[in-house]
Amino acid sequence: MATPLPRHEDPRGDPVACSRSSAIEPCERGLWRLVSFVGDPLADFDAALALDPDCAMAHLARADAHLLLAERASLPAVRESLASAAALLPRAGPREHRHHAAASLAAAGRWSDARLAWEALLVEHPRDLLALFCAHMTDFYCGDASNLCLRVARVMPHWDASVSGWSYVLGMHAFGLEECHRYEEAESAGRAALALQPRDPWAVHAVAHVMEMEGRHEEGVDWLRAREPDWAPNNGLAYHNWWHLALFHLEDLDTDAALAIYDKHLPVLLGELVLQRVDQTALLWRLKLMGCEVGDRWEAVADGWEAGLEQEAGFYAFNDAHAALAFIATGRDAPLARLREAMAAQGRRTGRSAGDLPAMQREVGLPLVDALVDQRDGRHRKAAWELFLLRDRAPRFGGSHAQRDLISQTLLACAVGSGDAGLATHMAQERLASKPGTPLTGYWMGAARSAGVH
Ligand SMILES: [Fe+2]
Repeated sequence: MATPLPRHEDPRGDPVACSRSSAIEPCERGLWRLVSFVGDPLADFDAALALDPDCAMAHLARADAHLLLAERASLPAVRESLASAAALLPRAGPREHRHHAAASLAAAGRWSDARLAWEALLVEHPRDLLALFCAHMTDFYCGDASNLCLRVARVMPHWDASVSGWSYVLGMHAFGLEECHRYEEAESAGRAALALQPRDPWAVHAVAHVMEMEGRHEEGVDWLRAREPDWAPNNGLAYHNWWHLALFHLEDLDTDAALAIYDKHLPVLLGELVLQRVDQTALLWRLKLMGCEVGDRWEAVADGWEAGLEQEAGFYAFNDAHAALAFIATGRDAPLARLREAMAAQGRRTGRSAGDLPAMQREVGLPLVDALVDQRDGRHRKAAWELFLLRDRAPRFGGSHAQRDLISQTLLACAVGSGDAGLATHMAQERLASKPGTPLTGYWMGAARSAGVH
């Protein structure tokens, strides 16, 4: 029988099996980078392993950092770290075993089963910040608004300001509250998190979401601009908060300002993350719906999607749908057909072992792409009703309400394109209820009322 590794404790009192307790400090730094998106957590986990090659938690945190990118391309690195951790498990403790099981399920595409495994960890270790963050981000990828909020709420009584990482828990809760439409509480939790730790882009982001959902676009610009030094420099979430800033400008119909942000802060780069390409695409599509000329920007984004097609197509429906937008916008029929084929192949997988990804394709990804093709081909009324129908289950394929507003705005464009002012106005009135005073709502109401008038 293998000799058990010594048990040490992290700053929250959770057990860490490793030979040298000095490995815990770089692990903690990596965990901080993970939850704050500051810099590269992998370098810290590697530093921990350099100090103590027996530290399974460093391998496991490394696997989780790759997993949370939600890319198929990251899976080999996940499996490599999981294999390294597995070799240490006979000498490690139950916490390491459970983390390994959860990450292995997530790596197999069984995201909901992984969330259950992380939840079981949280029952035992409610201060396990790594388990909480992994579950929270996977809740986001699964569009599970309820658990984005309640999973955090369930562990909060075990935390307070004296526990390392508390402000990030508040930031997660803020985002979950926002996705549950509890805007006042969300803003208050986000501001409380930032009062403790201003450099928390997820909390900044949660409050920005509240402002987005309430049509407070001018406040949103001020909010993000004033706090830019805290969320932008050397931060993995910065591109997404820049995207939110661009959305606030779009809400004001200031397309020049949105494009200026796009050009300066959402550059199309070789080897960028799929998450970044999603934001580029989502911004350009909204501009397209508004009839805004974006020059050759679409081509570069579509090139990126096409370069990653072999690797990523048919993996995560939310990403695939954005790739489809870029191919449709650039008239790339062959890549679009290959993408749809890969999505359909994923959608045909069944059974619990197939995990969550096939249903995301079947229920949302594929019908969304088909509706977009109908829109492209001028079948606007059909596309509008298809979008109306799938929108109700769209949270199933992940993302936030703000991201999925792209579907609602596409629906509006289809209703306007159908030439039926009654239908278009009916759809636009929904936006009027949540963002009554914004110029973008005015734009859609105007477009709807004049639909069919030439
Ligand atoms: Fe967001």
